[in-house]
Amino acid sequence: MLSLEELESATLDVTNIDDLDVDVLNEILNKHDYGIVKGLINPDEIKHAKNLLFEQFLVENDSPATGESPNRIQDNFQKLSIGGGELREKDLSKCVRTFYNPIFAKDIYGLRNAFRQAAMVRNLVTGFRKDFALDTVQDGFWTASRIHHYPTGGGHMEGHIDDYVPVIVGQYGVNSYFQPLIVMSKKGEGEDCDYKKGGGYFENNGGRIYYDAFLELGSIIIYNTKIFHGVEEIDPHLPFRQSCLNGRFSGLVTMYRDLS
Ligand SMILES: [Fe+2]
Repeated sequence: MLSLEELESATLDVTNIDDLDVDVLNEILNKHDYGIVKGLINPDEIKHAKNLLFEQFLVENDSPATGESPNRIQDNFQKLSIGGGELREKDLSKCVRTFYNPIFAKDIYGLRNAFRQAAMVRNLVTGFRKDFALDTVQDGFWTASRIHHYPTGGGHMEGHIDDYVPVIVGQYGVNSYFQPLIVMSKKGEGEDCDYKKGGGYFENNGGRIYYDAFLELGSIIIYNTKIFHGVEEIDPHLPFRQSCLNGRFSGLVTMYRDLS
C-alpha cells in the first residue's frame, strides 16, 4: 500500500517548468521508481480536452490496429487496437483506442500546453534539452503525443516492462528512461469519476498502485519503464460498446523514432 506520506514526499508542485528542480526529481525517481509533478497542467485543461473529445468523436474514424503508414500517426489519427497481436512485434494483450495528436498537428483537443509540459518533464529527467524533439522531428526523434482511451467493459493493456529503452540508451547514453503520463481520468465512486474498477497501475513493493484513484487531473506521473506496469480491465462488469467513449483516458508523450 502506498502511504500518504510517501506520496507527498514523491510529489513536486510547480507552476512553471523552469522552477522544476530536476536534481530533486531525479532523486525521487531513483528512490521510488516513480514521481509526481503537479501544477504544470490545470485540471480544467483536461476537462476541456475531454469535452472536445466527446464532441468530435466518430466511431467510424477507428482505424485498424495495424497497417497504418508511419507518417499517418504524425498527424491527428484515431485507431482501435484489440487483441494479443500475434502478427505484431509486441505480443501484449490490449484493448485501447489511441488518438494521436502530435504537438505539430492541429490542436483539436486543446492539449498543446499539456503535452508540451509533459514532454519537457520527459526531456529533463532523461537528460535532454528541455525542448528536444518537441515541436519538430529532431535527430530522428519526435514526440508521439496522444490520448489513450481504455473503453468501459474491458479496456486494458497487459502488464509489461517497456523494451523501447535501449534505443534511447544506445543513441544518447542516457541511463534510464522515465515515461511521464498525464492523468486524465479519476477512478472511484464519485460523480466526477470515469470508472470504478481496474485502471492504470504500476507495481511497487509487490503491490499495484492505481494512480488515477488518488491523483488530480493534469498531474504528471513519471515512472521507470523498467518496473512492471499496465492497465487492468476497466469496469468489466459493464458492456463494451465500440461506439461509446466512456472509460479511462491518459495522455502520453513517448519519444518515437521517425520512420516516415
Ligand atoms: Fe509501457
